[in-house]
Amino acid sequence: MPPRLKPQGGSTATSGILIAVEGIDGSGLSTQARALARWLGHSGRPALLTKEPSSGPAGRLIRRSLRGHGAAAALSEPAMAALFAADRLDHLSRTVEPALAQGMVVISDRYLLSSFAYQSLAVDLDWLRHLNRRARRPDLTLLLEVPTAVSRSRRQARPGDERYEADDHLELVRERFVALGLLLRAELGVVAVDAQGPPDEVLARLKAAVVERLP
Ligand code: TYD
Repeated sequence: MPPRLKPQGGSTATSGILIAVEGIDGSGLSTQARALARWLGHSGRPALLTKEPSSGPAGRLIRRSLRGHGAAAALSEPAMAALFAADRLDHLSRTVEPALAQGMVVISDRYLLSSFAYQSLAVDLDWLRHLNRRARRPDLTLLLEVPTAVSRSRRQARPGDERYEADDHLELVRERFVALGLLLRAELGVVAVDAQGPPDEVLARLKAAVVERLP
């Protein structure tokens, strides 16, 4: 018997909710993802905060490359795209899916839209979408929008320039986030949020988006 073709797309039926927090470096992702998870917990919704690149084996290799360490620094852009996709599948099976199966709200600091925005500058978007076909689509993607100048001043407050953080490159990534956020709005549940201003004001906008979009 020939093997049968199965539909792909990876959306496993689970009772939890997956929220991705996305944006360019320095847009406040980690601060806001943490604050959202804390707020959900205090509201009686068990929440798990997690992150990509993950702490798993593929994620650790990616971080070495981002920081320019050893042989990992020379990984090509297509190889990086494949690694981000591999790390995502590993992260899903190790961390995200088990939490969703328990009915938790999972907040991921970066997810699919990061791959599409950062890697599509170097590799074909259709190939990226194919690589990521098995990754579960998020229920909601919160896209934190800040001008590159704002992200630069936020980034100056912390150490370490990484592979994708040069200003002119980040402006191109920012434009990709906006364009792909619109293109993939339905598929990824994208809601764009103005992430300028004091963190608690940004958080209030994010909470409003979560309350509006989710049960
Ligand atoms: P970041 O999320 O800023 O992590 P940290 O705060 O630990 O430095 O860094 C991850 C970098 O990886 C960032 O520049 C975005 C990039 N990235 C991609 O290019 N593609 C992806 O799919 C993901 C998840 C991240």
